[in-house]
Amino acid sequence: MKIHETVAGLRAGVSNAGRVVLVPTMGNLHDGHISLMRQAQDYGDTVLVSIFVNRLQFRPGEDFEKYPRTFAADCERLVAAGVDHLFFPAESEMYPTPQRYFVMPPAELIDILEGEFRPDHFRGVATVVMKLFSITQPQVAVFGKKDYQQMLVLSNMARDLALPVDIVAAETVRAADGLALSSRNGFLSAQERTEAPRLHRLLEGVRQAIQAGERDYARLERAAITELAAHGWVPDYVSVRQRSNLQPPSTGDSELVVLGAARLGTTRLIDNLEI
Ligand code: PAJ
Repeated sequence: MKIHETVAGLRAGVSNAGRVVLVPTMGNLHDGHISLMRQAQDYGDTVLVSIFVNRLQFRPGEDFEKYPRTFAADCERLVAAGVDHLFFPAESEMYPTPQRYFVMPPAELIDILEGEFRPDHFRGVATVVMKLFSITQPQVAVFGKKDYQQMLVLSNMARDLALPVDIVAAETVRAADGLALSSRNGFLSAQERTEAPRLHRLLEGVRQAIQAGERDYARLERAAITELAAHGWVPDYVSVRQRSNLQPPSTGDSELVVLGAARLGTTRLIDNLEI
């Protein structure tokens, strides 16, 4: 695997690499990330992974400083997964001058759900991914459904700005007990780790109720939130939405997704299930 720390080096390294598939990450790689890389191999000739903890998408007080940085272990996993190129820029390479130009996704998509609790988060995500696209010029990019709203923000960005890149949405990888794999799971205490799969179980319950014909979404959402709170969580939301735009469903909508976010101790977990 070739490691590139500069934009110029990366561009030279992939200039004759055929169809490039990019998998952007912030590192601290787990099996969820690795499954994206394996799928990436089916979409092109060269798999390019980026590792960059993007300050723009963290608010002061969020976990930017303590976000786990595990470069050596990440490299081992990438080599084992057969990744061809790694782009690993320093902050001074990605942001040599303070970033003044931003990609602003539409309010109706970013003021809701995650965006309500993390203002400016998706502006930071869209801006860094646009910049990564500009640097690496991939034909395809793979994102996980684990971050459903992010995946939608980015695929809409590619469509709205006519970017010459196909966006692939990959399924969420889970632990045996249902907990969605996440870098933030490492912050959970042993006791919290036992409790953590409840979020997935409750989303699964909402999905099954809707599949069985329940249409009172508000009741299902309230019941899940109450259950989380009763077990020591601080829920931000549990919400049934339309898959295509994350707006509340109207009668008869069938392409739905249920999304949830809640804090367990100091760790904030998110998850979702398509219905
Ligand atoms: P990060 O949290 O490192 O995630 C990188 C990619 O892995 C994202 O597309 C995310 O949705 C996917 N992913 C995370 N957990 C997953 C799981 N359990 N199963 C499947 N895929 C999973 O998301 C980011 O980084 C950043 O916001 C980024 C897009 C890199 C921009 O900075």
